[in-house]
Amino acid sequence: MTTAAQPFASTLDVLARILPAHLLKPRAAIVCGSGLSTLASSLREVVEVPYSALEGFGKSTVAGHKSALAFGLLGPGTGVPVVAMLGRFHAYEGHPLATVTYPIRLFARLGVQNIIITNAAGALNPALPVGTIVTIHDHIALPNLTGPLNALFGPLRSPDHPRFLPLSDAYSSKLRRLAFLAAHRLSLPDSALAEGTYAWVSGPSYETPAEGRFLRAAGADVVGMSTVPEVLAAREEGMAVLVLSLVTNAVVIPERYRSIKEEVKAELAGQTVEQPPAAVVSHEEVLAVGKQKAEVMRNLVAQIIELLD
Ligand code: 6GU
Repeated sequence: MTTAAQPFASTLDVLARILPAHLLKPRAAIVCGSGLSTLASSLREVVEVPYSALEGFGKSTVAGHKSALAFGLLGPGTGVPVVAMLGRFHAYEGHPLATVTYPIRLFARLGVQNIIITNAAGALNPALPVGTIVTIHDHIALPNLTGPLNALFGPLRSPDHPRFLPLSDAYSSKLRRLAFLAAHRLSLPDSALAEGTYAWVSGPSYETPAEGRFLRAAGADVVGMSTVPEVLAAREEGMAVLVLSLVTNAVVIPERYRSIKEEVKAELAGQTVEQPPAAVVSHEEVLAVGKQKAEVMRNLVAQIIELLD
């Protein structure tokens, strides 16, 4: 997988022509996950730039995602200039990872030093009920789980980029501290914000029960189809990263498989066996929880950005 030359100069040029100077140097970037694009409604003096106007951007095709960058001011007083991605690109849409990570690298070139990446995720850890926001402190994205997919494949981007990126501190402890301080300032209940490890799978299929059990046994708390390529690019570009995963559903991992063999034997012996239907996750459910919790996520992100200063 080689990376085509990326049109940063042209994209930056378009932004420089559209945006007023005070919005062109965002202090933080925010990536809005499924159902979380209303984050942009807290921005003032907002200028939305559709992805279609920006060279290098793909077309995001998933329901529940808008397709624009929103530049604006967040927080009290004059506010902090931020840029929000309303809708992101996923590998499962057919986008190369160079496209998935292009906006992140663009943010680096706008001078962004802090990025808050949000997503919707399924809970593998039974201690994380639907609606919990999880501050991610680590991830699992082994190539053999996601196919030959690492966002940093390709020739070295510049002599200043590391060839072998260390990930032992990928998730900024400073920003994670701010997340918990922000939750305290907002008087969120203790259970509203947790911490955990994110497992990245390519999607678009959800996990089988056996895959869910595998990821849980491997130490993952939540699972989703985004974020890790963006984290790698952001770290390679030298940004501090915070990831907030909203738990939108539980990955149901049965204690044991319903045995069809036992059922047939029981039936043949004249007994009737009633089985509850298996739980099935749906994108609609994911979007609905995203919508319900969008305001908490929005307030949390706004408060974290206020604490950045
Ligand atoms: Cl259950 N799995 C994955 N892979 N992504 C999700 C999810 C589940 N719920 C929300 N996003």
